[in-house]
Amino acid sequence: MRTQIAVVGAGPAGLLLAHLLRLEGLDAVVLETRRREHVLGRIRAGVLEPGTVDVLREAGLGARLDRVGLEHRGFSLRFDGAEHRIGLTELTGKSITVYGQQEVVRDLLDAAEPEPWFGVSDVALHDVTTDRPSVTFTDADGTARTLHCEVIAGCDGFHGVSRNAVPVSTCERAFPYSWLGILAKTPPAHHELIYAHHERGFALHSMRSPELTRLYLQVAPDEQLDEWPEDRIWAELALRLGTACEPGPLVEKGITSMRAFVAEPMRHGRLFLAGDAAHIVPPTGAKGLNLAVADVALLSKALTSWLLHGRDSEALSYSDTRLRATWRAERFSTEMTEMLHRSADPFDQRLSLARLRRVASSRAAATALAQDYVGSSEGT
Ligand code: APR
Ligand code: PHB
Repeated sequence: MRTQIAVVGAGPAGLLLAHLLRLEGLDAVVLETRRREHVLGRIRAGVLEPGTVDVLREAGLGARLDRVGLEHRGFSLRFDGAEHRIGLTELTGKSITVYGQQEVVRDLLDAAEPEPWFGVSDVALHDVTTDRPSVTFTDADGTARTLHCEVIAGCDGFHGVSRNAVPVSTCERAFPYSWLGILAKTPPAHHELIYAHHERGFALHSMRSPELTRLYLQVAPDEQLDEWPEDRIWAELALRLGTACEPGPLVEKGITSMRAFVAEPMRHGRLFLAGDAAHIVPPTGAKGLNLAVADVALLSKALTSWLLHGRDSEALSYSDTRLRATWRAERFSTEMTEMLHRSADPFDQRLSLARLRRVASSRAAATALAQDYVGSSEGT
């Protein structure tokens, strides 16, 4: 088999990259180890920066997003028993859109032509530093195949294989807490997101639609899900958020550990890394999906210039450009995480409150936070 770009992984990064490349007239084949239903069923974050919305709209993926996405012009910070609204639109002129990553993936799969190869195994990358790279894999029917290509895009997430083919140096930080997240069939208890810092721990009130609420609680890193029956979750949320949600049936319940991770460089020969394969941000501030979209928006342009017009400068600078943006997002996500979570360390506890009080009392500090939250025009 032969294609121009072999895309490894059908998460949002791989699916969007293949879509953008095909719009430019390039040929891309997507390989995915999981089944279609699994990829469609994964529930993750749901906040889109304006830059992300622009990319999706320009790629012809805006119809459902514009119909059911929820525009939010601000969010609430709650701490010290009080509420402080961060007026995103007032402070930056921009707004965010609440639209689940799951919905973005559904739109991408609806538009995918041809479909990804789902259920593949034994994926291995070869000759990435030559001008004839290839990917070998076993297809869902058990047939061993070789995909010859000009470029490989490693979009296979944190646990993928692509990063192993790059001589990366990695930086990592583990945080001393996890998030217990639920998606519940109940109307949101507030019209905007609420980030609550409480002495019992952080809590986040978010949503997916007028009928679906997404809620998170800071828990210990080794917390077991069975220690959290539904009654306990609702009671704890009410305490920390200062607002009771109407309990509803759970669509999903899970614990996610929190880490920051960056692999450098993001290119090796003809292999380019994008999305979670290259970097993970802690989830506070919802930058992960936005960063992945900005990676592939640039990568599709760079590959188009290179493969169709023979200009390789954007491809050569892809790693440096995206690593600068990655570190901006790591800086913001780490600060947001540390400001909002409850630490066991008394000094860190006081620091969190000092940071929150500064954002609540200084327009300059609130504006800086809001600008980071909505993302830059350079793509997060
Ligand atoms: N071969 C092919 N596909 C693979 C392999 C492999 N060896 N290993 C993993 N995959 C697939 C996974 O099954 C998954 O579908 O690659 C895909 C990677 O998708 P994501 O993990 O969603 O990563 P990405 O597309 O970069 O999306 C980033 O997702 O995790 C969130 O916070 C993150 O919102 C951000 C976004
Ligand atoms: C979510 O809705 O899942 C979400 C929202 C905001 C965040 C993180 C996650 O900062």
